[in-house]
Amino acid sequence: MSLKNTNKIKRIGILTGGGDCPGLNAVIRSVAKPAMTFLNAEVIGIEDGFEGMVNGKAKTLSYIDVSGIINKGGTILGTSNKGDPFRFPIELKNGAIEIKDCSENVVKNYFDWKLDALVVIGGDGTMSIAEKLSKKGLNIVGVPKTIDNDLDGTDITFGHDSAIAVATDAVDRLQTTASSHKRVMILEVMGRYAGWIALASGIAGAADIILIPEIKFSWEKIFDMCLKRSIKAKFSIVVVAEGTKFPDGNLIIKEKDKKRTDPIRLGGIGEFVAQRIQQATSLETRAVILGHTQRGGSPTAFDRILATKYGAMAIKSVIDKNFNTMVSLKGDKIISIPISDVVGKLRLVTQDNQMVLAAKSVGTSFGD
Ligand code: F6P
Repeated sequence: MSLKNTNKIKRIGILTGGGDCPGLNAVIRSVAKPAMTFLNAEVIGIEDGFEGMVNGKAKTLSYIDVSGIINKGGTILGTSNKGDPFRFPIELKNGAIEIKDCSENVVKNYFDWKLDALVVIGGDGTMSIAEKLSKKGLNIVGVPKTIDNDLDGTDITFGHDSAIAVATDAVDRLQTTASSHKRVMILEVMGRYAGWIALASGIAGAADIILIPEIKFSWEKIFDMCLKRSIKAKFSIVVVAEGTKFPDGNLIIKEKDKKRTDPIRLGGIGEFVAQRIQQATSLETRAVILGHTQRGGSPTAFDRILATKYGAMAIKSVIDKNFNTMVSLKGDKIISIPISDVVGKLRLVTQDNQMVLAAKSVGTSFGD
């Protein structure tokens, strides 16, 4: 990749939006290092995602800041899932929350900081904010992040592989207790409205039942599977995605918070499924919620490499002034697509996905 600064890029802003995710620092590094080394450009790290763009919190990054971070979890810039500038939560003196459009602050700070481009690393919420800001004149390049892998327009988001590794390790560990105590063990994993983490970790950990939002399950099918297995194998492992809907179409919402970009926080279905199985089958059942361990810690080698490739393509997009685009993996190539292609769409598991078919062929039940 030739990196000639023919377009005289002098200052590049970078921010991480939404939930933290393994690989964020690897992207920051792979954007900032070539910017500093080959373009001789200043890299401005925006603090706490779009909150920093609204409130004017940013600092110039040094080469040392972005060195030795490829293997570090989280984000050196900080992040927030409550900073949508178009519906920004402002706490009033009486403690009430007022939602205000603060997008003009973002525009002002972008131009005050004399940014030539802004690299935004985030999921669907971040990309939809980015698209709206690009219409206000900001030069934006997006990098697709999320453990959920639910972003449209790319084959995979960075962070997903790391989350699968954590979830698979958890399934492996639960097999021990399940077989020793002859129990049904339920593992609830993240993923929002998509079942990618449950599907992949369920296959890799050889779960007996995988429940995902995209496949409607019946309680009887699950009870039947657990009872059959209690006779032969003596134990069962169930991996359930947090966004899985009950047969009546409802899902468990843990909390609603209007400050968040996505106000709905999911979680809690694992315990509910465990209780139903125990009541219906009398099999001893336990539930484990894996939670934020899936987002924490060091990225896998796959995610470090993917993040580095995404970052390299993002800086190329900046140099080429290929703005209002998102870098994306298609097959074995990193390409650049319009951000508008991904906004408002979720990438979900389909019934004919090869992972679903492969799981079914080895006897895994989806309760359908
Ligand atoms: O989008 C990533 C994710 O971890 C989801 O899988 C999960 O539903 C959500 O974020 C949790 O958000 P929070 O960290 O705000 O609880």
